[in-house]
Amino acid sequence: MLQLYEQFVNDFKVYSQKRIKNPSFVYIKQQMTTIFVHNLKFAKNTKNHSSDLLKDTQEYANLYLYIIRKADTEVIFMSNILDAFKEKQVESKEYTGKKIKVGIIGCGWIAEAHLQSYLKCDDVEVVAFADIIPGKAEAFAKANGVEGRYYLSDKELIDNEKDLDAVSICTYNRQHAPCAIYALEHGVHVLLEKPMCVTIEEAVEICKAEKKSGKILSIGFQPRFDENMKMVKKICESGVLGKIYYIQTGGGRRMGIPTPFGTSFIQEDTAGLGALGDIGCYSLDMVLNAIGYPKPLTVTGFKAGLFGKKPEYLQKPEYTEVFGVDDFAAAYVRLEGGITLDFRIAWAMHCDTPGDTIIMGTEGGLRIPSTECWNGSIGGPMTIYHNIAGECVETVIPECENNGDNFDKKIRSFIDAIEFGLPSPVPSSQIIYNQAIIDGISRSSDLGREIEIEIPEF
Ligand SMILES: NC(=O)c1ccc[n+]([C@@H]2O[C@H](COP(=O)([O-])OP(=O)(O)OC[C@H]3O[C@@H](n4cnc5c(N)ncnc54)[C@H](O)[C@@H]3O)[C@@H](O)[C@H]2O)c1
Repeated sequence: MLQLYEQFVNDFKVYSQKRIKNPSFVYIKQQMTTIFVHNLKFAKNTKNHSSDLLKDTQEYANLYLYIIRKADTEVIFMSNILDAFKEKQVESKEYTGKKIKVGIIGCGWIAEAHLQSYLKCDDVEVVAFADIIPGKAEAFAKANGVEGRYYLSDKELIDNEKDLDAVSICTYNRQHAPCAIYALEHGVHVLLEKPMCVTIEEAVEICKAEKKSGKILSIGFQPRFDENMKMVKKICESGVLGKIYYIQTGGGRRMGIPTPFGTSFIQEDTAGLGALGDIGCYSLDMVLNAIGYPKPLTVTGFKAGLFGKKPEYLQKPEYTEVFGVDDFAAAYVRLEGGITLDFRIAWAMHCDTPGDTIIMGTEGGLRIPSTECWNGSIGGPMTIYHNIAGECVETVIPECENNGDNFDKKIRSFIDAIEFGLPSPVPSSQIIYNQAIIDGISRSSDLGREIEIEIPEF
């Protein structure tokens, strides 16, 4: 099989280097399809074919389909896909038929989405639930028609569940880092909800624990699996925009401070971050993922809680007493590669939108109509503005239809990574930059000036 891998890499190199300097994913996919079809036809039609040739071709076909499927569902660069395959071959990890044992930590609103998606996986058994509120874990499991073992904290669950393979961490933001670090330190794979955590120091500690453990850590950005989000990335990678130099992104709601199930999103000691962490992380991920997650260098940021103390903006007037986070944030960020990022996000504002997302390049500009939080949807068809034969033209990209549920894909990709030894589907090596920007905005706002983003080594 390693020989086949080498053949694939060689085919990939020949087709990508011979024809174009910067191969786009779409182009490579087309070329690889051609090779695949050619090889298959050759193997089937040749009169002298040996069973070995057919077998080889079949393996090549499997490899090809495996890679294309991963690329389609996970939107990762071709080189990553090839590396992933190489690792897969070296490790030769085969599905053993053993069920992956999962625990759910934090049994609030998002935990239900995780559980429902796990229940659709034949190869997963959700064995345990934890919540610090007495009775909540058990009530949650029963309300979802399942049973398990119940615990009063993440530590209790991890200490007692000796056969545990993985956990979903669905706690409020302030508990992301302690829970993720404890799980990784105890050799458990982690699917961690977004935002990754609250501060950059926490993010670094999580990454250190991940590195030491060798376990999978994936961050819960299900919009990555949305067809429109994938299209944004494909457009940027295709080269049609030329060199990207400016991005405007963000989103917001007129009246949307989230308190559907209590105050965990608006209290400083549970959420730590308001609109900036809750929905800001999505718009940052959409554009940064599209352009390959360049490193952030400097940030001038502002954040404030401007509406959360007004009773009409909250579900219950008494919530104003505990409101302690931002409901608006804005920033100007310099990214590596000469790209500037203009960002704004709001849970509440006197405006319909703080603007569409715009990605400007030397050959074209992409406009993505605004939504309130970019958590897996776009506000309408996208438009590419460019010049053809000296004329200004516009190409409309129709909205893509999704096949399947993004939450299911988020869970499936995590389980696949564990089962087949694949890289993390939404890796901390990218999301640490998302967290660094969020953290930088908070710090710059507190200091009232531009700051340099420094990420400690780990
Ligand atoms: N990906 C998405 O679309 C999405 C959607 C909503 C929320 N989220 C994220 O999910 C997280 C949780 O959101 P939610 O709406 O479910 O919040 P929630 O407040 O409803 O639930 C969090 C639960 O975690 C429990 N908890 C806290 N610390 C714990 C610990 N150490 N051990 C066990 N249980 C603990 C709390 O008691 C609470 O029941 C947030 O970080 C949020 O940003 C993601």
